[in-house]
Amino acid sequence: MTFQRKHILGLEELTAEEITLVLDTAESMKEVSERDVKKVPALRGVTVCNLFYEPSTRTRSSFEIAEKRLSADVLNFTLSHSSVTKGETLLDTARNLEAMGAGVIVIRHPMSGAPWLLAKELDSSIINAGDGSHEHPSQALLDLFTIREIKGRIKGLKVVIVGDILHSRVARSNIWGLVKLGAEVRVVGPPTLIPKYIENAKVRTFYNLDDAIEGADVIIMLRIQMERQESAYFPSLREYSRFYGLTREKLKRASEDVTVMHPGPINRGIELSSDIADDAGSVILAQVSNGIAVRMAMFYLVASAGRNV
Ligand code: CP
Repeated sequence: MTFQRKHILGLEELTAEEITLVLDTAESMKEVSERDVKKVPALRGVTVCNLFYEPSTRTRSSFEIAEKRLSADVLNFTLSHSSVTKGETLLDTARNLEAMGAGVIVIRHPMSGAPWLLAKELDSSIINAGDGSHEHPSQALLDLFTIREIKGRIKGLKVVIVGDILHSRVARSNIWGLVKLGAEVRVVGPPTLIPKYIENAKVRTFYNLDDAIEGADVIIMLRIQMERQESAYFPSLREYSRFYGLTREKLKRASEDVTVMHPGPINRGIELSSDIADDAGSVILAQVSNGIAVRMAMFYLVASAGRNV
């Protein structure tokens, strides 16, 4: 199949075939990343702007490396030194960047839906790097890629997503992707952090971590998002950690070859003990490395759709 999309906004709108095409393309891109000269000319002459309205370590760096490996011209927008501080709107800012020739805009924004607004109003291709509590497609795609690489498949796997499902764009995008690719998805967390949409999401909901991880093949731990907790969703971090933090003891209930994942940044000792995070078999840094190949694939497919870039 060919990829016909000008934008990559979320996994809700991608088909299983499109998601699989991104993962297959990322395998070729990973091979590029293993060469001595890690560069191909796929985006030569294309200007990509990284428009980040929220802090980021992994996503921003990974997009930038992916852009450079594809030979794009890269423009990094720094919020604190921009005219946003003088009150310029998102749309005006993006229109000005487009007027300077940005063929692709990668956007992270605290407002859910911001990438859709740009996709509707601009001619540039838009790639969502995380919008509010809504979607984080590149993170879910790199998680799917990593699961498929380690387990050899996604269909039929028992995948558990643990923690702050309510505020997590990583959870939302992963649920869309995993369900579409045939995984058996379970979510677990305090009742206050399980959103209403879960009822229609074809996942099983648990409130007890021990029950949820019984026989699990993959466990995706989520970060407790202090910056999005506008009210008290649980009594204290210590309570949260006691009931929903992953420890060696709790892991014994999972499948013998369980894979533990985390999108980062980790709150060490809260959602995940350091001995699990730093275990020799930990895949958390493999997720980060795979993110470059997956983001290269996203750019490559948007570019090969042949519009604007
Ligand atoms: N996983 C993730 O989105 O990390 P950053 O916030 O560092 O980009």
